[in-house]
Amino acid sequence: MSILVAGGAGYIGSHTSVELLNAGYDLVIVDNYCNSSPLVLDRIKTITGKDFKFYECNICNREGMRKIFQQEKIDAVIHFAGLKAVGESCVKPLEYYENNVWGSVALLEVMKEFGCKKIVFSSSATVYGSENKAPFVETMPVGTATNPYGTTKIYIENILQDLYKSDNEWSISLLRYFNPIGAHPSGLIGENPNGIPNNLMPYVSQVAVGKLACLSVNGNDYPTPDGTGVRDYIHVVDLALGHIKAVQRVLKKTGVDIYNLGTGKGYSVLEVVETFKRVNGVDVPYKIAPRRPGDIATCYANADKAYKELGWKAERNLEDMCRDTWNWQKKNPNGYEQ
Ligand code: NAD
Ligand code: WQD
Repeated sequence: MSILVAGGAGYIGSHTSVELLNAGYDLVIVDNYCNSSPLVLDRIKTITGKDFKFYECNICNREGMRKIFQQEKIDAVIHFAGLKAVGESCVKPLEYYENNVWGSVALLEVMKEFGCKKIVFSSSATVYGSENKAPFVETMPVGTATNPYGTTKIYIENILQDLYKSDNEWSISLLRYFNPIGAHPSGLIGENPNGIPNNLMPYVSQVAVGKLACLSVNGNDYPTPDGTGVRDYIHVVDLALGHIKAVQRVLKKTGVDIYNLGTGKGYSVLEVVETFKRVNGVDVPYKIAPRRPGDIATCYANADKAYKELGWKAERNLEDMCRDTWNWQKKNPNGYEQ
């Protein structure tokens, strides 16, 4: 079976590519490197000892994508190719709508032309909005996103739902990720944020390695046990393994299935910082800062459906996530730029 991974050079895509190769799939990665490095490809080969096809192409480029589908026999697509910075999406909404929404439409059109109607899509817990209360369950109505990035995820989910209504031959899996962190235990691939990180774990690890001076904890007056925000952090390798299960399902059956990929357990910002310090024996200076606009107090999954229907659950704990993040950070203090 041959799987096309759009955005496969990125953080989650590279980890999923490793697990697809380990599971024996043939792999075709498509990426335009707008947020990744060609070095990732060699690292994937080093980890797995296996080879795969790669095409540098923007998914918005229908002609380019057609050529790939002409050359390769693709059984299913995993679609990670999107821009993901919440703050940037407020400054550049049109880029986000064009790349994420039109890119998805273009990809789906080409898939349809070639009779490839099986897709696993990277959605996000952000689609639950602030209207729903954790634990989030797939049966809850989709909420209102507080930023254009989140809105693109809601639009693409709707587009995929409509596509299935129009043609019941499609097999679609919408995976709502919670907070992916960690890295492959080899330390060869990991998250490589551009500039100053927005997300908690890369910020923590860059403070620990001395690139940044001090973590700002965004608010300690939330209605949570210690007042700081609570999130469902999930190890990126567990997340990658969830994609293998989702691909197996879309290869087998038609329909639209939605799955939360989270652990079902929330940790506060201070719990993450303390665990990181303890497990890695490093210091992470922090100060309490004002709340970050748009943040909710608590976000964690009800992860039962993925376990019941996919037979998947997260196996790695917060200590594993902190240890593997630090291993990657120490070995690659400048990410892939060395
Ligand atoms: P990432 O930026 O590391 O990976 C995305 C990859 O897609 C990059 O390699 C980028 O170069 C590529 N890409 C982007 N637009 C493209 C285009 N038009 N054509 C071809 N390639 C393109 O991000 P990630 O963290 O690996 O996230 C993967 C997906 O998961 C994204 O869709 C993201 O929105 C979603 N997601 C991420 C998180 C998270 O916290 N990381 C949470 C929920 C959902
Ligand atoms: C986690 C907690 C912060 C940085 C984001 C996107 C979401 C999804 C995953 C894609 C919060 C606090 C953070 C810092 C801090 N992405 N924090 N100091 O906001 O839950 O989710 O990534 O779909 O859409 O919004 O993740 O890692 O930014 O924040 O105190 O320097 O850490 O306020 O409580 P978030 P995060």
